[in-house]
Amino acid sequence: MAGRRLMLALLLAAAFLAAGASGSKYMRFDLLRRQPASLAELWRMDREHMAFIAARRGRRLTAEATNSASKAKTSPAPAGGDEAFAMPLSSGAYTGTGQYFVIFRVGTPAQPFLLVADTGSDLTWVKCRRPVTADPAAYGTTWNDSSSLSASPRAFRPDKSRTWRPIPCSSDTCVQSLPFSLAACPTPGSPCAYDYRYKDGSAARGTVGTDSATIALSAGRAAKRTKLRGVVLGCTTAYNGDSFLASDGVLSLGYSNISFASHAASRFGGRFSYCLVDHLAPRNQTSYLTFGPNPAVSPPPSKPACASAPRPPGARQTPLVLDRRTHPFYAVTLNGVSVDGELLKIPRHVWDVERGGGTILDSGTSLTVLARPAYRAVVAALSEKLAGVPRVTMDPFDYCYNWTSPATGADLLDVPVPTLALHFAGAARLEPPAKSYVIDAAPGVKCIGLQEGEWPGVSVIGNILQQEHLWEFDLKNRRLRFMRSRCTH
Ligand SMILES: *[C@@H]1O[C@H](CO)[C@@H](O)[C@H](O)[C@H]1NC(C)=O
Ligand SMILES: *[C@@H]1O[C@H](CO)[C@@H](O)[C@H](O)[C@H]1NC(C)=O
Ligand SMILES: *[C@@H]1O[C@H](CO)[C@@H](O)[C@H](O)[C@H]1NC(C)=O
Ligand SMILES: *[C@@H]1O[C@H](CO)[C@@H](O)[C@H](O)[C@H]1NC(C)=O
Repeated sequence: MAGRRLMLALLLAAAFLAAGASGSKYMRFDLLRRQPASLAELWRMDREHMAFIAARRGRRLTAEATNSASKAKTSPAPAGGDEAFAMPLSSGAYTGTGQYFVIFRVGTPAQPFLLVADTGSDLTWVKCRRPVTADPAAYGTTWNDSSSLSASPRAFRPDKSRTWRPIPCSSDTCVQSLPFSLAACPTPGSPCAYDYRYKDGSAARGTVGTDSATIALSAGRAAKRTKLRGVVLGCTTAYNGDSFLASDGVLSLGYSNISFASHAASRFGGRFSYCLVDHLAPRNQTSYLTFGPNPAVSPPPSKPACASAPRPPGARQTPLVLDRRTHPFYAVTLNGVSVDGELLKIPRHVWDVERGGGTILDSGTSLTVLARPAYRAVVAALSEKLAGVPRVTMDPFDYCYNWTSPATGADLLDVPVPTLALHFAGAARLEPPAKSYVIDAAPGVKCIGLQEGEWPGVSVIGNILQQEHLWEFDLKNRRLRFMRSRCTH
């Protein structure tokens, strides 16, 4: 969620400041990239993220209890052919963050922005600059301008976009669909304003409108540019704190009728997919975020998949759980976890949304978080298999190992890493590469890269565990498909 991102950026900024006064900012980025000890930092960010998910869930449950009729309508329209479009996607490791970035072009004429691709978000927003002459009241709120974005080199200018349309504060979208919209609505036509505030006093403020995104159609021989109209876009005009160092905003891939994913998927085959390169890959190693059918994982919607239609080899499929309890997140039914082929004893209620558990898949969380009973069982099984490797201590993990050979000084090569498998409903098994759960934490040090989550609480499959897989979110048929891939297409 946008607000959560702000918090992440603030934490990052604080880390930079705390890291010392010498050296330029660019140097700092470099250091962070070279020293994955910043995993502790990633986990601090993830914790904020988890708090957000928990809060959001609570909020949703309350809303549901009080108003069961206000069901968000999110039914993508029937697929429009085999057309698809794609955006380059890359790891943000070079900025010291655990996010994946896309390039998003918005406005007329189009302006490019680097946004975090986040399935946990329902509002797309960009850093924005309001016209110097504008009446602040017309932007829905007055704010402390000392840290406004006017100095930012890359900011969206709604006044320079012919297709920007403010959303009025009296509209249903503002009142019902937008998280954190302000109640203040001086006149029915005033812009819809949002204000994200945090315990520590940080905040992000702006107004919401719609604009056109420029997309590159990938169907056909030549890439053809076209416009996707009516994209809901938050224009973040001010915030308190030195944040947003790494990106220009957030691309919302959550399941909500204002999210970019739902909007784009409703026009392009009812689905989207992404392939996550290794989380430490350099910025020029790009893969794609694709809207519309991805032939690698599923048949095009114009050729309906009958029961007998073969899926591409290697593609697994499990139901995508899209209901109000987990909105706007993507929930999956996890039935169990095995280590070296042995199914672990984990109480079933850990995986049950009805009983305070459940599992979501999130591109915006880095480390995978398992609710306490699951975490304990999985870590016990993995660490038992690694008992022969000398332990070292390293935040934020419980189990880290000195992976350096005393004889050669190089990485240990002969340690078999136990295989981890996540068993989803529909007999779909995720078997991530070893480096996704016994992860490099420092030179010569590897850690069991999982985190312990609260119980009761939701488990989150983070982006490191998703790396080097192609994931397709078929919103129309409520299916999640995935397969191993080096994401080099
Ligand atoms: C989202 O759904 C709500 C009602 O559930 C509706 O009022 C609103 O207009 C919808 N927003 C968009 C952008 O379609
Ligand atoms: C505005 O921000 C500055 C710097 O962060 C702070 O010193 C000042 O007290 C703030 N003013 C208000 C009215 O919040
Ligand atoms: C990425 O950049 C590195 C240098 O920073 C270069 O060696 C490499 O060839 C580049 N890879 C691609 C795919 O462009
Ligand atoms: C790991 O072991 C090697 C060789 O025994 C040693 O030189 C090194 O200092 C150890 N590293 C850590 C982080 O303990």
